[in-house]
Amino acid sequence: MYTLGIETSCDETSAAVVKDGSAVFSCEISSSAEFHKKYGGVIPEIASRMQLETITQVVDESLKNARVELKDIGLIGVTKHPGLLGSLLVGLSFAKAVSYSLNIPLIGINHLEAHIYSGFLNKKRSVSPTGFVALIVSGGHTNLFYIDDFDKIELLGRTRDDACGEAFDKVAKILGLRYPGGPIIEKIAQKGNPGKIKFKCSGTNSPLDFSFSGIKTAVLYYAKRRIKGEISDIAASFQEAVIDTLIDKSLLACKIKKTNKLVVGGGVAANSRLREKLSDAAKINDLRVFFPDKKFCMDNAAMVAGLGYRLFKKGHGSDLTLDSRDEDNF
Ligand code: KG4
Ligand code: ZN
Repeated sequence: MYTLGIETSCDETSAAVVKDGSAVFSCEISSSAEFHKKYGGVIPEIASRMQLETITQVVDESLKNARVELKDIGLIGVTKHPGLLGSLLVGLSFAKAVSYSLNIPLIGINHLEAHIYSGFLNKKRSVSPTGFVALIVSGGHTNLFYIDDFDKIELLGRTRDDACGEAFDKVAKILGLRYPGGPIIEKIAQKGNPGKIKFKCSGTNSPLDFSFSGIKTAVLYYAKRRIKGEISDIAASFQEAVIDTLIDKSLLACKIKKTNKLVVGGGVAANSRLREKLSDAAKINDLRVFFPDKKFCMDNAAMVAGLGYRLFKKGHGSDLTLDSRDEDNF
């Protein structure tokens, strides 16, 4: 069965066609990032207006590139929350209109749960998406979950202050680098010595929670008195401390939940150093770790379509009263 996915939670407008919850036939993404640059952050009004202007074209492209027509679509999955309200409403209204006019079943999807599902897209060997720990690290969230199944999710830990990607973005700003900071820090860190400066993430009362605002401030004070040429060492040492914390807590969560399956998702999951170190740690600890393809780490509609199918097959669905209230409270 073909599922059409629609994702408009932040500055992207994305549409995808996914077959049977896994095979991605197309995934189109149009970003309004260019228009927010001069403001130093996403302006919700600009994002939702651009989404309104582009959504029809993006959906058309995704159908065309998948070589299917709307009449072939058996389900529409759409991001319902969390995200920018005006942006979410564009996707929701569009999805409802198509669902109603063509009588196609509709399902509203939680954006974070979709990030978790991204690890199961386009995989050669099919892996059961049940009984695993998920680490979601993005610009807005840092969470550890236990997924019994996608309709039985337990929140194990979350950030107490900044999100992990946000910390990368803020440290990049401190170092005079561009937004988004994650990919640039990763690149510069390759030339630096990760053991040069002893940065450390702050402790938290609950061992599975995270805190990144302390390390960001430590970088700020260090950077103020840095000598020229040290920027790559600062980036490498910061990145290493953050990655070590993500790994330690993920391994602890797997131990507590007695599972050997770990899935990582969200923008920061594109980080090569994290992928490399976590894969090594997994081998030593007898864990199986699943990363999404890099193109599915950032916001995209394929993960929404994939999870939509999974939940629909389990009997879930939405009607036209679907709205963006956040009942899950992640
Ligand atoms: O999941 P995402 O596309 O959007 C949100 O839902 O937030 O994540 C974007 C975040 C940004 O903070 C960006 O700096 C970070 O992911 N990011 C990275 C890398 N690529 C993106 N952080 C570290 N290393 C990367 N390679
Ligand atoms: Zn996201």
